[in-house]
Amino acid sequence: MLKMMFYMAPMEGLTGFTYRNAWAKFYKGIDKYFTPFIPATVSRRFNTRELRDVIKEHNTLGLNVIPQILSNNAEAFNSTANRLLEMGYKEININLGCPSKTVVKSGRGAGFLSDREKLVKFLDEVFKNTAPEISVKTRIGMHSEDEFKELLHIYNSYPIKELIIHPRTGVQMYSGKPSLTAFDQAVERAKIPLCYNGDIFTRDDFEIITERYKDLNAVMLGRGIIARPYIIENIKYGKKEDKSILKSFHDEYFNINRELFGNDAIFRMKEMWTYFKVNFPNSDKQIKNILKSKKISEYICNTDKIFQNF
Ligand SMILES: Cc1cc2nc3c(=O)[nH]c(=O)nc-3n(C[C@H](O)[C@H](O)[C@H](O)COP(=O)(O)O)c2cc1C
Repeated sequence: MLKMMFYMAPMEGLTGFTYRNAWAKFYKGIDKYFTPFIPATVSRRFNTRELRDVIKEHNTLGLNVIPQILSNNAEAFNSTANRLLEMGYKEININLGCPSKTVVKSGRGAGFLSDREKLVKFLDEVFKNTAPEISVKTRIGMHSEDEFKELLHIYNSYPIKELIIHPRTGVQMYSGKPSLTAFDQAVERAKIPLCYNGDIFTRDDFEIITERYKDLNAVMLGRGIIARPYIIENIKYGKKEDKSILKSFHDEYFNINRELFGNDAIFRMKEMWTYFKVNFPNSDKQIKNILKSKKISEYICNTDKIFQNF
């Protein structure tokens, strides 16, 4: 078995506790599960969604869950981090990569990467806090890969536990390919254990990365897991996809969401299906029907049909 660790990526609307718990019931091999980002503000407490994701009652399976915080304000970050520590979490992840317009506009996520002076002040304050273990998830710059050298220099001056790099810029969003030349730079210069993240959709993709980077601490997968929940077992243990397990996993995830969100569970499921559909080739019409489902009964009928055909 490989020594390398495998992480589930934080994905807003996808990899919250309902997904983690359903996944872990049917699949094995994830060492750390990162929560979708929790925005920190000085004045506000956790909102329902954020709290729901991190409370003990929803995290009873003993999974190694790492809360992620999105903030450009050290005071807000520290108070949120401290609340999470009180809840028993040991590691906190900082989001320096979210490329969404509203987040970037407010100078957070990938938007924070372009204000390096402020970023340094923020990190100074964060690492002064009698601290939890802090890991960082970053892109390689906001506008250009050229920003990465300076960013690495900044990261190197803090006791960051692990640096998770998605080697795209913020403006790139998800287009183009991850820049392996940027990741090469990190391998060369970073004094921090590294985790590679980006576009690992198949076992071959994984092998290309691990051939090139033999000393990686970890890889993180996001869309690859949502599309093929069995991909980690395939990579680690050579296990093949099993449609009946896939169906059981789907049903479990659907039922947990349904209990929690009622009819709105369909939105979550549709989000998953935009990736999960790869398991059902030549089924465009049936997938369209699933994505058009408005009622729970319609959704169940459409998903039952598609699984029956495979
Ligand atoms: C729908 C969606 C939601 C995401 N939410 C978050 C998030 O909350 N925090 C974060 O750091 N990254 C978030 N990401 C980025 C992923 O964690 C990951 O870095 C990205 O998808 C690249 O990895 P992949 O190619 O394995 O999917 C999100 C990505 C998507 C597509």
